[in-house]
Amino acid sequence: MKQTHKNIQDWYKNHGRLDLPWRTTNDPYHIYLSEVMLQQTQVKTVLERYYFPFLEKFPTLKALGNAPLDDVLKMWEGLGYYNRAKHLHMTATLVNELPEAIDKLIKLPGIGKNTAHAVATFAFNQPVPIMEANVKRILCRLYKLKTPNDKDLWKIAYAVLDKENSFDYNQAMMDIGATICNPKNPKCELCPLNNICKGKEEPTLYPTKKKRVVPTREQNILINVYNDRLFLMQRKGKFLHGLWGFESMEIPLCAAEYIGEVAHAYTHFKLICKVYVYYESCPDQIDYFSPKEIEELAISKVDEKIVKLFLDTM
Ligand code: ADE
Repeated sequence: MKQTHKNIQDWYKNHGRLDLPWRTTNDPYHIYLSEVMLQQTQVKTVLERYYFPFLEKFPTLKALGNAPLDDVLKMWEGLGYYNRAKHLHMTATLVNELPEAIDKLIKLPGIGKNTAHAVATFAFNQPVPIMEANVKRILCRLYKLKTPNDKDLWKIAYAVLDKENSFDYNQAMMDIGATICNPKNPKCELCPLNNICKGKEEPTLYPTKKKRVVPTREQNILINVYNDRLFLMQRKGKFLHGLWGFESMEIPLCAAEYIGEVAHAYTHFKLICKVYVYYESCPDQIDYFSPKEIEELAISKVDEKIVKLFLDTM
């Protein structure tokens, strides 16, 4: 293993993304934020649009905890998976600083096993591995695992870890997974783990790809318009909770005008919204907003598409 660890360290020094801002800091809050943002979002998006503005607005965990949730959601707008923002905020209201121990980290809202390990190794220099999607793929190929379970993978991850250089090792593994041991065209001849990899003859067999069929859901959306202002409400249900959005209805109002549809793909389903507009002669609701004011609200991608459709058809 010693030689492989050295190969990984050398590879990382020459080819790793050493200058990512969450890799050049040891501030636990910055690292925690980056890990939460990166849970479901690509590095490029986090780096270019979200990480720095979020830290500028909420420079410390304390500042985040003191901020209204609406402001946090606004900074998260467009990143999706808004529970991440709510959990971050909740954690910031619960603790003054992040604990170092994995079993304490894991008890905080929105911190699963992988994020707890990532914070422990990157912020607190603990010799523990991580288990992000790229790392999982590498481990499956290393040991020719087609349908591994998480328990076995964690065991392997601990066994393979370079305990003396866990920070660089873990960051390197993610980069190797992203650039070399990629899903479709792995470049095994360039891989620093080549000497110990059992799956290198046919790497793409591991792990077995699951075919996922995502269902389609349809919704009728009603935009109530009064005086060029649109009615939006703050969502209360589980889905997109806390964000502002338009009303949905079972059966479209007869008097409403159909203006088109918008679609949006979520992880577990595809949503198609059929959009209707109803012009009110006297205000029926409370919260009406001009298009300019809507820009200031935290709204979801679908609702953003609905506003655009409305403005395009006016
Ligand atoms: N994805 C999750 N954590 C990451 C990190 N520290 N660097 C790059 N991508 C990541």
